[in-house]
Amino acid sequence: MPLHTTRVGLLMVIVAAVSLLGGAYRQLAPGAKGAVLLTGGLGFIGSHVTEELLRRGYSVTIYDNESTGHNHNRRAREMVPMDIRCVNELEKVGKCDYVIHLAAAISVAESMKLPAKYTDNNIHGSQNVIDWAVARGVTRMVAASSAAVYGNPKGKDLPIQETQPYGGLSPYADSKYKMEGLMRAAGAKGLDATALRFFNVYGPRQDPKSEYTGVISVFLDRGNNGQEVTINGDGSNTRDFVYVGDVARAIVTAMEFSGAFDVFNVCTGRETTLEHLSLTIKALLGSSSKISHGPARPGDIAKSVCDPSKAKEKLGFTAGFTVEQGLARTAAWFRAEKAKAKGAPAPALKSTD
Ligand SMILES: NC(=O)c1ccc[n+]([C@@H]2O[C@H](COP(=O)([O-])OP(=O)(O)OC[C@H]3O[C@@H](n4cnc5c(N)ncnc54)[C@H](O)[C@@H]3O)[C@@H](O)[C@H]2O)c1
Repeated sequence: MPLHTTRVGLLMVIVAAVSLLGGAYRQLAPGAKGAVLLTGGLGFIGSHVTEELLRRGYSVTIYDNESTGHNHNRRAREMVPMDIRCVNELEKVGKCDYVIHLAAAISVAESMKLPAKYTDNNIHGSQNVIDWAVARGVTRMVAASSAAVYGNPKGKDLPIQETQPYGGLSPYADSKYKMEGLMRAAGAKGLDATALRFFNVYGPRQDPKSEYTGVISVFLDRGNNGQEVTINGDGSNTRDFVYVGDVARAIVTAMEFSGAFDVFNVCTGRETTLEHLSLTIKALLGSSSKISHGPARPGDIAKSVCDPSKAKEKLGFTAGFTVEQGLARTAAWFRAEKAKAKGAPAPALKSTD
């Protein structure tokens, strides 16, 4: 046998042995599992979805007009700084196997003042993304809907299940519900799609200065700066807060699923009062902030909690973070950001893990 043939044979044995032994540790080349078009990928949730996709071996093309999101990730395959309302720009996007659609105008309050903006971005823009997905024959599309579609369910209807009728109270809720309808209709054109109804999402990179932000980032920001934290009402109002890392996992899990159009709640199934939230944040930060109570806001939902069982049964998704664990991570991020701004190392946190 010629010498080089023996060497090639030996090399193949070594490669096979290494891949067998090291199988559990093998890292996929970026994009090995497929290419994903991620609209809104520079946003709060989108930045965590980008990380989850890269971690699982997908390549990511971010499509974002940078209107509110600025979380660039160097490891994304491409960043297309365009608008979903622009069909011509979407046509320039290269081949992708999957679409995750998060780009949207996201403020309930703003939607009451500027309903046309919500029709344009969230309904017409979503239609463009759906049409693109159908025309390109993508394997699957997952899009962000919202718990806002349930409105203000009565106590007897809690925890909220997906079978609740539409109860939206704003043009934002209406735009998300109509987007779901467009996705369902695209099933007839061969699109395999899932809409996820997120409850109150929180976590690192949620901008506390944004007028659209959630209560947790406002409390953390004020607590971190020793400012008074004001709760609207007596603090007994409850919400189902879900950590952004869990939301990213739910999105990618739904993308890897297959099946006809369906909707799923993304939540924890646990109720947290605003009072508990503010006290936990204060303790975690070791903050001297005073907690005060202002008047209840008219129309504020008193109790909200969601039933997560459909996503558990059909997608195999369960939120892994308790609110205390998620808050600890988020508080650590706030402390680190503050220290970075001052040029100092982040001080140690008290942990409730
Ligand atoms: N954060 C929550 O608690 C929550 C709850 C329910 C649903 N959602 C939904 O999740 C999605 C992501 O929300 P988020 O909190 O990360 O918001 P975000 O504002 O941080 O992210 C939205 C991203 O979309 C981009 N974008 C907006 N309009 C666009 C357009 N016309 N073309 C291209 N890009 C556009 C923005 O620049 C931003 O990067 C949204 O669809 C939102 O409605 C969020």
